[in-house]
Amino acid sequence: IRKDAPEASVYVASYIIERIKAFRPTPSKPFVLGLPTGSSPELVYKHLVQAYKNGEISFQNVITFNMDEYVNLPPTHPESYHSFMYKHFFSHIDINPSNVHILDGNAPDLARECVMYEEKIRRCGGIELFLGGIGSDGHIAFNEPGSSLNSRTRVKTLAYETVVANSRFFDDDVEKVPKMALTVGVATVLDAREVVIIVTGNHKAAALQQSLEQGVSAMCPFSALQLHERALIVADDPATIEL
Ligand code: GLP
Repeated sequence: IRKDAPEASVYVASYIIERIKAFRPTPSKPFVLGLPTGSSPELVYKHLVQAYKNGEISFQNVITFNMDEYVNLPPTHPESYHSFMYKHFFSHIDINPSNVHILDGNAPDLARECVMYEEKIRRCGGIELFLGGIGSDGHIAFNEPGSSLNSRTRVKTLAYETVVANSRFFDDDVEKVPKMALTVGVATVLDAREVVIIVTGNHKAAALQQSLEQGVSAMCPFSALQLHERALIVADDPATIEL
């Protein structure tokens, strides 16, 4: 638990840097990093970029897989997760573009795109560390309440609560928010050798309480992290008020 979002973000960024360095990635043994979007990780990316600019860390031997992407939003749209990732992270670091993986929400065959994504993760040897955030309804990536805890990458319809929450990025107009997304599954996240989740703000407090202090339930997909042997949750004080 850290005092506020900036301190939680510094902690998470330092943690990731430490883990990548300890792994000593090489071209034949790259570090495979799962990544989220959202306002929670924004500051984390800022610190990672700063660390790269200071010469503290290189991403040359890092492979990334993003958690999710909207369906039918052009990748060039400013609110696509593709745009978000380049704007906040990839454009500022030394990552090889061919090492960046983001689901294609405009693929002609979405089901196939999802199967291929799982296949690509497998071929890279699985995800070493999955960084994530949570939704106020307890979703992880876009695994909305009711998602099977065994789910894999697939198409999901967004919960109304998520559409409303994300409308702040679409001129506060729920009509403009895509209603469907591609997302890694709960089991895809659980497969990672380590999971780090950043939770900040009192609007996440109820979801955090439900996930940590109540039973594992598909109605709160984040609670599945209770089943992971190496899950780290970094929260700020306001997110912990219900604990
Ligand atoms: C979206 C993303 C999630 C993210 C959540 C919370 O729904 N698909 O991966 O965790 O938003 O976002 P924020 O950090 O902006 O609250």
